Amino acid sequence: MRPTVELTGEHNQIKVMLAVIDAACDRLDAGEKLPPAELDKMVAFINGFVDGFHHDKEEGLLFPAMEAAGAPVEGGPLAVMAGEHEIARHLVRQMSEAASAYRDGDGGVAASFVESGRNYVSLMLAHIDKEDQFLYPMADGQLSGGQQQELRRRFDAASEADDIAGLLDDLRELQEIYLPGERRDQRPPQT
Ligand SMILES: [Fe+2]
Ligand SMILES: [Fe+2]
Repeated sequence: MRPTVELTGEHNQIKVMLAVIDAACDRLDAGEKLPPAELDKMVAFINGFVDGFHHDKEEGLLFPAMEAAGAPVEGGPLAVMAGEHEIARHLVRQMSEAASAYRDGDGGVAASFVESGRNYVSLMLAHIDKEDQFLYPMADGQLSGGQQQELRRRFDAASEADDIAGLLDDLRELQEIYLPGERRDQRPPQT
């Protein structure tokens, strides 16, 4: 599988979590109390899968490969994408602080989780769209067959090093709770 195809597949999983967070924000906004452990799982997925796995592969492997193939380092799309990752990290820190205060019984922080959560969702939806529509096609045009193969090898090593199975289980569990009845494209084939 081409490295950018793998990244787009991860975007699809991330978009499911963004829909979960959006639904959770709607419910908090309506005054509903949610199990704190579920908010913790949303934050843990972002930290472990979105940031620790997906953004790590982009910043640590894809972007350097594109730079080596001639993409501008400063002022170009790679700098814009990395800057958006940084804004996303800031928003996740806010979500994490709100989730932990909520767990400690401070119901007043629900509004703070909703605000940072909604900002995170809209930032990431636009970010993912830019990468799928523009950045990944640009990478595919720039990288030679040999460079793609080298990137593929490094992506495989990253997948072996990072244990993301538990996070994907949590994603499916939250999907069942917050998006009931929606198509579950991310479920593995039933055996
Ligand atoms: Fe990105
Ligand atoms: Fe991405």
